[in-house]
Amino acid sequence: MRRFSADYLRRTRDGMWAGDRETLDALRLNDCDRVLDVGCGEGALTRVLREECPGEVAGCDRDPALLSDLGGPVVRGDARRLPFVDGSFDAVVCQALLINLPTPRQAVREFARVASGRVACVEPDNAAVSVRSTVPAERRLASRARRRYLAGVDTDVALGADAADLLRAEGLSGVSTARYDRTFVVEPPYGEADVRAVTRKASGAGLRARRATMAGTEEELDALRGEWREMGREAVRQLRDGDYRREETVPFYVSVGEV
Ligand SMILES: C[S@@+](CC[C@H](N)C(=O)[O-])C[C@H]1O[C@@H](n2cnc3c(N)ncnc32)[C@H](O)[C@@H]1O
Repeated sequence: MRRFSADYLRRTRDGMWAGDRETLDALRLNDCDRVLDVGCGEGALTRVLREECPGEVAGCDRDPALLSDLGGPVVRGDARRLPFVDGSFDAVVCQALLINLPTPRQAVREFARVASGRVACVEPDNAAVSVRSTVPAERRLASRARRRYLAGVDTDVALGADAADLLRAEGLSGVSTARYDRTFVVEPPYGEADVRAVTRKASGAGLRARRATMAGTEEELDALRGEWREMGREAVRQLRDGDYRREETVPFYVSVGEV
């Protein structure tokens, strides 16, 4: 079971949905009295839904530690056996949950059971992430690390637009999909989190922490970590001079279907 800290989730979702929210239109949040966000974590999407929906938005996660700071209605629960009766919510939504489940279709079936109106999934395609950096080696190394991750992880982390097929397979109708690019930029003036993230590259701590989900022998991963740390040291040098800039785009897909 993969665990996520509130700090990691805050860092990776910071600013997501800050701008254009048109891709959420198909959810018709304005018409909803009750919405459920499953696998809500520390509430990155829950807070957005609460801003957009005049009704009540509940968060649900199997990890109680993540729910403790969210406030509002929150329920501890497993996406595969939701603790709600049939048709309890106008809309059931998740973000970056299905990519972490070995049997995502089972969760979609549960969403369709407890929803009376719409089911929506916001899922990334981690195989299509793109990186641009002022450190020449960073893009190549990020792509090497990503290939090892895609080969080593035991769930479909590239699900993205294919989530729409899961909705159709579970009998949802009128399924639509819209792409939403999540772009992270590190550039001057650097924030505290930027400095921490760049320093972490130079230590190789990020790659070490992801060992369990990366394919390869110890020698292969040691070699990758060695090059990664060298790249990180160059990033730290550029950061000190105010020259470092990195842009990463993660495509998310918002798939919505009617019960
Ligand atoms: C990558 S995080 C996404 C969190 C949040 N939706 C967001 O976008 O920041 C995946 C979340 O799903 C939760 N999760 C994983 N498996 C679950 C399950 N079977 N039932 C409910 N929640 C689950 C994890 O605890 C975690 O909070």
